[in-house]
Amino acid sequence: MAWGLVAIGLLLLIVLGYWQMIVAEGSYLGPRVVTFLYDLTAPAYERIKQFDPGYEQWFLGLPLGQALEKIPSPLVLDVGTGTGRLPRALLFQPAFRGQVVGIDLSRRMLAHAVQLAQPYRERLALIWQDAQDLPFEANSFDAVTCLEVLEFTPHPQAVLREMVRVLRPGGVLLVTNRVGKDAWVLPRRAFARPDFEALLRELDLENVRIQSWQADYDLVWGVKSGVPRGGGVRPLSQVLRCPACHHNPLPSDGTAFTCPRCALSYPVAPDGVIEIARPSHKSVLEQREQPTIPAEESRI
Ligand SMILES: C[S@@+](CC[C@H](N)C(=O)[O-])C[C@H]1O[C@@H](n2cnc3c(N)ncnc32)[C@H](O)[C@@H]1O
Repeated sequence: MAWGLVAIGLLLLIVLGYWQMIVAEGSYLGPRVVTFLYDLTAPAYERIKQFDPGYEQWFLGLPLGQALEKIPSPLVLDVGTGTGRLPRALLFQPAFRGQVVGIDLSRRMLAHAVQLAQPYRERLALIWQDAQDLPFEANSFDAVTCLEVLEFTPHPQAVLREMVRVLRPGGVLLVTNRVGKDAWVLPRRAFARPDFEALLRELDLENVRIQSWQADYDLVWGVKSGVPRGGGVRPLSQVLRCPACHHNPLPSDGTAFTCPRCALSYPVAPDGVIEIARPSHKSVLEQREQPTIPAEESRI
């Protein structure tokens, strides 16, 4: 009897562990666990995913490029960029003349993005930061994308709200919603199609269109309502805002972006990744001495 109970307990533990760590990828245990798992997986991520370049172009690069074709120099944000899949698909498009900012909480995924996106580094900025607190001014981006990420964040609605905040009116939102056989075991992370559509409409998005994509994901498009304004490529220091005190702009001396109001400094790592998730304090003296880079030079 006792052994039977132990066996059932063990089985439950294995099922629970499999659900939490494999299916939900640590999502219900918090961003630290999710990040730990992605840091661990980073070297194998591209091998596991086996992205097909033609498929990536057909479903991502081409349609997004077309959605932005009327904007001479669009600025795009990719949230949870991982190894830079979306930036690579978009920057590969000859018609796309803009720039991309990719943000992720796994530093190792970003390190791989640096390597894989080498041909596009001039037009791609990579930022280490949590998607729950986007370090950008409102209405900054012409498009905001987020592929296969929302279900791994503790509050997908809050992340969506952040993405809509930084998207300019008239800008394009492209996100995924988890569907398929595992979606039912991801409560409050994956949404039924009508619920997801309603959620986006509540967030002031129009022309919401849900497109079947992969077995596990829908692609969902929307446009932020309002009179078009903002957007366009600008120096990153003008788009960034301090996550601690919300001051904008964040001047850069090439080695760090420093907040003139609260003196927090966000280093630029040797591989070029801007480490917003690793702030340090700059003394008032250091701040006074900091030369700010002219706007032209500090472009992405
Ligand atoms: C399945 S991968 C998707 C990566 C990429 N978008 C793609 O389609 O290949 C999920 C990514 O979301 C990132 N992520 C998870 N939670 C995050 C958070 N709170 N903030 C930023 N990134 C997060 C992970 O580090 C990981 O790189």
